[in-house]
Amino acid sequence: HGIIAIVPAAGVGARMQSQHPKQYLQLQGKTVLEHSLNKLAKVAAVKSITVAIGANDAYFAELPIDSQFVNTVIGGKERADSVLAALDALEANPPQWVLVHDAARPLVSPADIERLIHECQHHGEGGILAAKVRDTIKRGDSHVQQTIEREHLYQALTPQFFPYAQLRQALRDALTCGATITDEASAMEWAGHPVRLIAGRSDNFKLTTPEDLQLADFLLGQQMT
Ligand code: CTP
Ligand code: MG
Repeated sequence: HGIIAIVPAAGVGARMQSQHPKQYLQLQGKTVLEHSLNKLAKVAAVKSITVAIGANDAYFAELPIDSQFVNTVIGGKERADSVLAALDALEANPPQWVLVHDAARPLVSPADIERLIHECQHHGEGGILAAKVRDTIKRGDSHVQQTIEREHLYQALTPQFFPYAQLRQALRDALTCGATITDEASAMEWAGHPVRLIAGRSDNFKLTTPEDLQLADFLLGQQMT
């Protein structure tokens, strides 16, 4: 039973303030999306990848991507809509498990992905890569209102790995009910399913603002040598 990966890549990258969507910016001679796909392709259990692209995407078709291994669907308004569109497209030949990974996280380590898959399948529960929060965390606006106990706080990373049918139902129901869904885990939590936290490398950050680009470029260069 192979695993299918889903890569949401239908965002506009507003916070990056770049001329092109961030998943199509070039780092180390390749687009961010290609780096992310290459990382997933290094995981032997991943049998194919479905990429959710924007309805007016003018970039994907220009990339040298193996169309035997990578398919596309048109994404939606929010990230969760894009992931659900990809899940719907897999209906005819549904996989048992799906691995959802942000196009904007090209730094993920294939070894972390393999550990996530192994731990989740071993326990028969879905899970996510996560990194322990390392800074002191404040709640506030102009002034600090409160310092939050950090001991049990994690940053949710991707990939996130769940049983296909459960995730599809949970996303569908949560979106129908208008719940705020910013990752797959939040839909699974909403539906009452367990979500395992699997420690992941903290350099698997999401390219979000312009100051992320230099560091990502440097780290990708290190990973490629
Ligand atoms: N994404 C998507 N469909 C959307 C919105 C986001 O597939 N409607 C994807 C993005 O392309 C990205 C991932 O989800 O790979 C994580 O989202 P985020 O970092 O928020 O990317 P953007 O929404 O593009 O950026 P911003 O929020 O700054 O506009
Ligand atoms: Mg966004």
